[in-house]
Amino acid sequence: MHKSIVLLPGDGIGPAVTEAAASVLQQVAANFSHTFTFHTRAIGGAAIDAAGEPLPAETLQACEEADAILLGAVGGPKWEQHPPHLRPEKGLLQLRKGIGLFANLRPVKTFPSLLDSSPLKPEIVAGSDLLIVRELTGGLYFGLPSERRDNGQTVVDTLHYERSEIERIVEIGFQSAMLRNKRLASVDKANVLESSKVWREVVDEKSKDYPEVTVEHMLVDSTAMKLITNPTYFDVIVTENLFGDILSDEASVLTGSLGLLPSASLRKDELGLYEPVHGSAPDIAGKDIANPLGAILSAAMLLRYSFGLEKEADSVEAAVDAILTKGYGTADMQAAPAFTVGTEKMTSLVLEQL
Ligand code: NAI
Ligand code: MG
Repeated sequence: MHKSIVLLPGDGIGPAVTEAAASVLQQVAANFSHTFTFHTRAIGGAAIDAAGEPLPAETLQACEEADAILLGAVGGPKWEQHPPHLRPEKGLLQLRKGIGLFANLRPVKTFPSLLDSSPLKPEIVAGSDLLIVRELTGGLYFGLPSERRDNGQTVVDTLHYERSEIERIVEIGFQSAMLRNKRLASVDKANVLESSKVWREVVDEKSKDYPEVTVEHMLVDSTAMKLITNPTYFDVIVTENLFGDILSDEASVLTGSLGLLPSASLRKDELGLYEPVHGSAPDIAGKDIANPLGAILSAAMLLRYSFGLEKEADSVEAAVDAILTKGYGTADMQAAPAFTVGTEKMTSLVLEQL
């Protein structure tokens, strides 16, 4: 298979972890006889410095033409005083919107060797392996009107969805469940919200196309409780923008290590944007201590979701698992690893394992 991948290293630790993930993709290509070509483009603060804007037109075009995009992180103190249109994070928001990424996928998996890193009791968190599919471009965050009235005595936000927007995110939820353990929790607030009632209708309709997937409707408040009392209960969760924002942050603390978490942002075709959940970590940039595993696991998601390369994706996840099981870890992991290594060493361990 021949594929082209745009690399957007960005700022802070972004370049180091992106390089790590790209080298893993190279190794996978060699192991499985694929050809991946890489094109590096500027985004965020790096693009502001080089081209005067956080998302140069040239970067957006390269992303649109690519088969997949791998991003590090953007932002840092250097650009904090800039006006809103010259802020690094603006580049990322413009990119997501510009190429129409409406589905955000955040898997959370606890590694057996890292159970002590979790703020939850090991017996509760052990075996957790879930995926949150969040609608990213509609709902309460984008609905209009959103305004103050009567000198601020009245205020309005709007939860707006087109049925077609619900259909396409629910479809991604079912497809994701098919790639996993075939259990889908659709999370809403249907006891209160009309939009949630339509959401349920759409899920019930779509479920006819996926008879193998077991579907459950759950209310968002009880889901929030269940995520910390019984996280192993879940396989795939699909939900509206605001609910997904909150639940995915809640779920991200289960593993106790921000540096380990990958994410994907998808649209209907194969093009997707893959990035670790963490930011640019300016406090540790340039020190060779950043955890590259969030970026490396994002590369595994890229193989699975954009290229349909399931075996290849599994091989990356298995390699990471094996390295962690051997007791290697980076300094950010809360429970001190048996062998603490830096970014480059961790990456070469994964490459050797592959
Ligand atoms: P952050 O995720 O960059 O850092 C939070 C803490 O976790 C820091 O102590 C950092 O050293 C540590 N950390 C993060 N990733 C790590 C890794 N891979 N290995 C080891 N330690 C790691 O979040 P923070 O500090 O709130 O934001 C820093 C900058 O990143 C800001 O400019 C922010 O806007 C930006 N940011 C960018 C995101 C993106 O590009 N998607 C997401 C979140 C923040
Ligand atoms: Mg958030």
